[in-house]
Amino acid sequence: MKVLILGGAGMLGPYVVPLLAPHYQLRVTDITAPTFDFDGEFWEVDVSQPEQVLAAAEGMDAIINLSVLRHHRQLAFDVNTLGCYNMMQAAVTHGIRRIINTGPHFTVTGASYELFDFDLSPDIPPQPGTILYALTKSLGQEICRVFTTQYDLFVQTYLFCSFRDPEDLHPERDAHPFSVSWQNSAEIFRLGLEIEPAKLPSRCEIFYVLANAPHGQFRNDKAQHILGFQPRDDIAAAWLSP
Ligand SMILES: NC(=O)c1ccc[n+]([C@@H]2O[C@H](COP(=O)([O-])OP(=O)(O)OC[C@H]3O[C@@H](n4cnc5c(N)ncnc54)[C@H](O)[C@@H]3O)[C@@H](O)[C@H]2O)c1
Repeated sequence: MKVLILGGAGMLGPYVVPLLAPHYQLRVTDITAPTFDFDGEFWEVDVSQPEQVLAAAEGMDAIINLSVLRHHRQLAFDVNTLGCYNMMQAAVTHGIRRIINTGPHFTVTGASYELFDFDLSPDIPPQPGTILYALTKSLGQEICRVFTTQYDLFVQTYLFCSFRDPEDLHPERDAHPFSVSWQNSAEIFRLGLEIEPAKLPSRCEIFYVLANAPHGQFRNDKAQHILGFQPRDDIAAAWLSP
């Protein structure tokens, strides 16, 4: 399978790319070259530029979108929202049916959910709030969803919040109620590339990707049951430490 990765040179890229590289023919793209060890195909692609995304998607079987820009008003919209539009247009043009999008958990559970103390799932009514990052990413997500109502393709969206490094744990930070290790999070992309479309409940599905946590504020059971995601991190140790 040939897989296009958009925004593959960022923080998550160094975990996702090496994990996928032995199994797929990757075309990694970003606005800057990867600084991690990768000797495969790399293209400079700005997701806000439709013709660049279209060219990069030619001949691909799947697209993974890791690109993000968080704070600049114009650029955040160009990358997080228009980037999704350009990705979906490219998918339609080239007949690519498998798309994996990513974002922060608060595209669904924004500020108004902060005081909910347990059982938040990715399928509750989304309320991203007004943070630019959340809003522009949630608009991108909505664009993906609308494309799935019009075209025979399917989009999985993986949402993350706090990443941790099991080799370098800081209990005060790593006990965040929605966290996962970089290594464990990368595994879900392999599962998403392998799942048969018919096993997805619909053409547009959102998954929370996080470790099992003692408090259960956020749920990861959907990723486990549908994709076979195995939460491997021991977050309880961080949670219970003084
Ligand atoms: N890192 C985190 O703590 C975190 C937390 C929650 C969710 N996420 C989500 O995970 C995904 C990956 O995030 P990350 O941590 O790797 O982010 P990152 O900030 O490292 O950015 C990813 C890549 O996007 C690229 N990018 C920026 N503008 C671009 C453009 N115009 N065209 C193409 N690429 C562009 C950057 O160069 C970068 O390499 C994103 O969807 C993000 O929202 C990350």
